[in-house]
Amino acid sequence: MVKLRVLILVGVIVVLGLVVALQPNRTSSVSAADVTSVAVSILPSSLGVDDAPEYVGSKKCKICHIVQYRSWEKLKHAKAFESLKPDQASEIKTQFGLDPSKDYSTDATCLACHTVGFGKPGGYVVPDTKDSKAVKRAKSLEGIGCEMCHGPGESYLKLHKEIMKSKRKYKHDEMFAAGMTPVEESTCLSCHNTKNPTVDKESYTFNYHERLVDGVHEHKPLKLCEDPHATPKPSSPGSGGGS
Ligand code: HEC
Ligand code: HEC
Ligand code: HEC
Ligand code: HEC
Repeated sequence: MVKLRVLILVGVIVVLGLVVALQPNRTSSVSAADVTSVAVSILPSSLGVDDAPEYVGSKKCKICHIVQYRSWEKLKHAKAFESLKPDQASEIKTQFGLDPSKDYSTDATCLACHTVGFGKPGGYVVPDTKDSKAVKRAKSLEGIGCEMCHGPGESYLKLHKEIMKSKRKYKHDEMFAAGMTPVEESTCLSCHNTKNPTVDKESYTFNYHERLVDGVHEHKPLKLCEDPHATPKPSSPGSGGGS
């Protein structure tokens, strides 16, 4: 779709340019160059919105990353959307002055940290309940999915598929160039901060290294990566992990 629209836009620019250039008595102050530059200045901004890679949902990663998926599924991140529903985590809600009987699952102030990509292009949108396609898509983006840490899938899925097929070696940088995001402390801090209404703002701290070990998913060493780096050690006891 994006390509088609760009083609049409470029076509329009060319035609506009020609129309102006070919006018027999060009008394108008608008030149071909002006028309083109106006049209071109529209081009990048419309592209910017359209071109943003979409979030595809964690299920799309499952087939190739079953170890990570299965362990992620059991952790709180996967279930973060549930906590927004009435009568869930009631004790914590009460403790922090939230209403345990209220449905917060359409509340924009909560969704940013309890869904995948809320407020970002191609991310979670509160669905119209009559639109079954929108409901299904929203469902796939509930909770803290893979893409909240690894970046929107549309940008790199093709590359992963190609590597899967060819079994060729690659370097991390190739993944990041394709749109994956390195997972860093700041990734976590975008949600684990004092804007979270369920923490004590005075005393809040986030221990990155501790929480990384138990809070993310099990790890499986990369085989095709030429420069596997400091992947956190698996947290399962007896694995030699921890320190
Ligand atoms: C068709 C299979 C396939 C799918 C689907 C897939 N991947 Fe991958 N992914 C791979 C392969 C193959 C590798 C390289 C593994 C290796 O080095 O052994 C990889 C590597 C990775 C890495 C490590 C990259 C690095 O260099 O640090 C991450 C993280 C990752 N995938 C996340 C995801 C996420 C998130 C999704 C879903 C949005 C996903 N993948 C979907 C096949 C896939
Ligand atoms: C700035 C990000 C952020 C916002 C905004 C946010 N949350 Fe959260 N929420 C978190 C994080 C992070 C946690 C996990 C805290 C931890 O374990 O460290 C959490 C945990 C919770 C929990 C506890 C779940 C459990 O079982 O332990 C509830 C309930 C909750 N949030 C409800 C809400 C509601 C309702 C809103 C909107 C009024 C909201 N949150 C807005 C980040 C946020
Ligand atoms: C998009 C927002 C978001 C990001 C990014 C995020 N988290 Fe969370 N995290 C949450 C929310 C929300 C919860 C609470 C889920 C619930 O129970 O509702 C949570 C829960 C957790 C828990 C479980 C706490 C418990 O009581 O079991 C751990 C551990 C954790 N996060 C670690 C991390 C780490 C480490 C990172 C970064 C690598 C990270 N998180 C990134 C939002 C986020
Ligand atoms: C809260 C953040 C977070 C979430 C959510 C998350 N990951 Fe990861 N993932 C990490 C971290 C941290 C690493 C290790 C550091 C690195 O290699 O970048 C990692 C590494 C990986 C790797 C490299 C191999 C390995 O096991 O270390 C793959 C593949 C991967 N994740 C897939 C997934 C998939 C699939 C999902 C969803 C089912 C997912 N991740 C969800 C943080 C996350």
